[in-house]
Parts: sequence; C-alpha cells; structure tokens
Amino acid sequence: MGANLIDGKAIAAQIKDEVRQEVSALKVQGSSVTLAVILVGDDPASAVYVRNKKKACEAVGIESVSIELPADTTQEELLERIASLNAREDVDGILVQLPLPRQIDERAVIDAIDPAKDVDGFHPVNVGLLAIGEPAVVSCTPAGVIELLTRSGVEIEGKEAVVIGRSNIVGKPMAHLLLQRHATVTIAHSRTKNLREVIRRADIVVAAVGKPRMIGASDIKEGAVVIDVGINRDMETGKLCGDVDFDSVAPHCSAITPVPGGVGPMTIAMLMRNCCELAKKRNPPAEK
Ligand code: GUN
Repeated sequence: MGANLIDGKAIAAQIKDEVRQEVSALKVQGSSVTLAVILVGDDPASAVYVRNKKKACEAVGIESVSIELPADTTQEELLERIASLNAREDVDGILVQLPLPRQIDERAVIDAIDPAKDVDGFHPVNVGLLAIGEPAVVSCTPAGVIELLTRSGVEIEGKEAVVIGRSNIVGKPMAHLLLQRHATVTIAHSRTKNLREVIRRADIVVAAVGKPRMIGASDIKEGAVVIDVGINRDMETGKLCGDVDFDSVAPHCSAITPVPGGVGPMTIAMLMRNCCELAKKRNPPAEK
C-alpha cells in the first residue's frame, strides 16, 4: 500500500483563499472582519503563534486588534479586557492565547468570552452545541482535520476511527466531529489498555498525544488513514516531528499527513474561517 501524502499546506492555502474572497465580499457590502488577540506574558512559543495568527489575518484581509499584557496581569484585569472586547461592535472574534500565567483561571477566562465571538470554540456553549450536533464554533485543529479528510476524498461514514488523546482542544471535539460524520469512534488515551491493539483496529487514526514517534508501523492496519496532530521537537536532531513515525508508517497507509506541513497549517486557516463565519453571523447580508 503506497501512502498518499495529504498536503496540509496546500489545503490550508485553498481555505485561506476562500476566506479572502468572503472577506472581500463582506467589504463590498460595508462590513469588515476583525479578530482581537490577547497575549498575556512572554512565553516565546505563544508569541510566535500570535505573530503567525496576525500575519494570517493580514493575508486574508481580516483586521487584527492586538492586546499584549504583562505576565503579572491579574485575572480581574484580563476579565475587564474581555468584557470591553465583548462590548465592541467592531470586534467579531476574540482569542486569548493559552496557556495563561498561573494566577489566572483559564476556565473563568474562557467562560467570559461572548460565545458569539468565541473564535476558538472553547466556550462551554459552543462545546455543548457541538456535542448535541447543532451549529457551533468548532475548535480549529479538529475542524482542520475534518477538512483534510474530506478534501482528500477520505470517506468517514461507517469507518472505525480511533482518536488518541482526550484534550478539550483536540481529542474530545475531534471525536464529536467524527461521530457527526457517522464514524464509529473510540477515544484512546494514556490509561487505555492494549492501546496498540485499539489503534490497529482503526481505519482512521488521529494522533494527538504529544509523544515523538510513539506510533510505529506495527501499530497501524494496512491501508489506514493516519492524521498526525503531534508537533514535537526531536531531541536528537532538533527537528520537528509528529506522534507518528512517518518513515516507517507511511508505506502502510492509504493516506498520511506529514509533520510539518500536515495538520499544523490547517489550524490557522480554520481560525480565519471561524472568524469570518462569526462576522457573517453578526452582520448578515442585507435581504435583496
Ligand atoms: N494554545 C495552544 N493552542 C491554542 C489554540 O488553539 N487557541 C488558543 N487560544 N491558544 C492555544
């Protein structure tokens, strides 16, 4: 079975193109799209993520409002900032970059974001809507995985899907999205017994563990589709690598995502799309 490489960079570029067209159509009717990004503290990785998000906004014509706060910001101050962004007519999406400094309760911060501006899809209202299958803002990375699968022609209905990892940001929403598309879904995690046997049952594997190359050729059913959400630093070579040992697994898959260049670029593309969708909901096109 030869692996069919899923090109996340190309699919992300396609989605950003679609968003760019929608944003300019909104401009024609007099509406702009604006994303507010809040960064607290000076975590270098978070600073890079935020910079990339702002660059992507620029590339698709979304305005960005950037709020950078010191590491000793209190929870109260942050909640006040969020309240004022909730109230701003010109702001369509609000993103608080995670993780937050220790003195701030992440849950309280997420809960404070207006669900109609919750561009990450982390608010309990959006999580609940997703769980009951109603239209919701969906967390960007799992939403991006679904786009990779559908745009690569992978059928999901009736398939055995195994999601490895149960985080609120990736694993859990991923499982809901696959279930919505009629897969038979298993969520596996660090306490799963016979993990490798469970993975070997899968027609579709989504790995979101954060352990470099933990999934090898012997774990994968011949012909499976493998989506690698992991972004890890290989301690020996210093290069990025996924949760999947790409070189040994690829020959056994019908399709696989590389790291980098697979799921990674999709997260920001979906963020742009979520922001544009929120703006459209807040400013519905005038009836003709
Ligand atoms: N930190 C790591 N991933 C994410 C994400 O998707 N959104 C936000 N806001 N912070 C993150």
